[in-house]
Amino acid sequence: MRFHVQPASDLLSGEVVIPGDKSIGHRALLFSLLSATPVHVRGLGDGADNGRSAKAITALGAAIAKAPDGFVITGTGLDGMRAPTSPLDCGNSGTTIRLLCGLLAGQRFATTLVGDESLSKRPMKRVIEPLASMGARITGQGVGHDITPPLTVGPAAKPLTAIDYTLPMASAQVKTALLLAGLFADGATSTTEPGPSRDHSERMLRYLGAPLTVSGRRTTIETRHWDRRLAGDGFTVPADPSSSAFLVAAALVAGARRVRLPGVCVNPTRTGFLDAIAAMGGTVILENPRDAGPEPIADLVIQGRPAELRGTEIAGDLAVRSIDELPILAVLAARAHGTTTVRDAEELRVKESDRIATTCAMLRSFGIECEVRPDGFVVQGQPDRPLSPGRVHADGDHRIAMAGAIAGLVATGESTIDDADNVATSYPGFVDAMTTLGASIRIER
Ligand code: S3P
Repeated sequence: MRFHVQPASDLLSGEVVIPGDKSIGHRALLFSLLSATPVHVRGLGDGADNGRSAKAITALGAAIAKAPDGFVITGTGLDGMRAPTSPLDCGNSGTTIRLLCGLLAGQRFATTLVGDESLSKRPMKRVIEPLASMGARITGQGVGHDITPPLTVGPAAKPLTAIDYTLPMASAQVKTALLLAGLFADGATSTTEPGPSRDHSERMLRYLGAPLTVSGRRTTIETRHWDRRLAGDGFTVPADPSSSAFLVAAALVAGARRVRLPGVCVNPTRTGFLDAIAAMGGTVILENPRDAGPEPIADLVIQGRPAELRGTEIAGDLAVRSIDELPILAVLAARAHGTTTVRDAEELRVKESDRIATTCAMLRSFGIECEVRPDGFVVQGQPDRPLSPGRVHADGDHRIAMAGAIAGLVATGESTIDDADNVATSYPGFVDAMTTLGASIRIER
C-alpha cells in the first residue's frame, strides 16, 4: 500500500475520535483472560496488533462476546488456561509476544509464538533471560547474541521461582512479562527499571486486585497470602496518545483553525511528546482533564497558524516517555528553528524497524539534514521554506509511514509513502482521520 500526500492547502480543522490506546488494549485483553469474572472492555482500538492479542486469548480459552458498547471477555482465571491447538501468531506485535512469554512461562503446556518478518527479527532475550532465571523454559532462534521468534514457551515443570530483577533498559514489555510470570511464582517478584516506562500494567493489575506495589522505579508482585484471584467489572480504553501525536503534529506544522481530539490518555509516562512540543514552543491545550478508570485523560486542542517551533534536546527520561513519538517529533524538528538532538534512545534500533535509520532516511527524502547517532539523531530544522516532496520507504513501520505522511503536508508537491500497509497495525483509520481534518492523502493499493 502506498500513500500519495498533497501539500495542505488550508488550515486543518475538525474533531477526530482517536482509537483506543494500543498498549492499554493489549493489557485489557491479556489481563481479562486471567480474570475470574467477565470483564467489559470499552473503547478497544481496531488495530491489527490488538487483534493478535484478542486471537491469542481466545486460543487460550477466553470467550469474547460483542456488547453494544464494546466487548465482554470471559476469561479462564489464573489457573484455567488451555493449551492452544496451533501456534499463536503475534503478527507485527512486540507487546503481544513479550507479554505472552510472561503469561505462559508458568503454564504446564507448551505454546509456540510466531510473528511476521519484522517481529521475527526483534530481540527476545530481554524477556527470555530473566524468565529463564525464574525457571521458565523458553527456546527460540539464535541470531547473533540474541534470540528471535519463533519461540516455544513451556511447559513449566514446577511453579516459577520469584526473582528480584534490575532491567538493563526501561521497558514496559519486559517489566510486564516478569510481573505476569510473578503471578505464577511463589513469593515476591520485583522489577527495577532505569527509566520511567509506561505503567499501564501496574494500574490495571492493581485494579483487578493483583497483590502489586510500586515504590519509585521498583514494582513488586507478592503472591504469599494471596487468594490467587483477579477480578474486575471492566476497562475503558482511552484514545491512544501515540496515534494522536500524528494529528497533533499535523495541526502544528500545517496550522489549525481548531483541531480537537477528545479523551486522549495523558498518563505521565506517555506524555513525553507533549512536553517536547512545549519545549519547542508549540501549544497543545489540554481541556477537561478527568479520569477513565485507572488512567487520566483529557481533550487535546490545537489552534492557530503553523507553529513557530525551536529546536530542543530530547534525552534521558524524556526520551523514554516519548519513545514511540520520536519519529513524529523528528518531523516537528524539521520545521523548527535550529537543531534538535535526540539522545539516550538506542531502543529505537529494535522497534518495528531500526527507527534511528528509518527516521533519518524519511527526513532526508524531504531534503532535511538528519545525522544518525548510535543512540539517537540530530535534525537541522528548515522552518522558513517548504520541504521538497518526499519519496519515503516506510520499511513496513507504521509510525514511519504516518510521520512521512505528516511531513508531506508541508512539502512543495506530492509526496509518496511506500510500504505503508502496517499503518493498520495501530491506526487503520489514519487516512480517514486526516481527510476529516482537511488533508488530501490518496491510498494506492
Ligand atoms: C509498549 C512498550 C514500549 C513501546 C511499545 C509498546 C507496551 O516498548 O515502545 O510500542 O505496550 O508495553 P518497550 O517496553 O520495549 O520499551
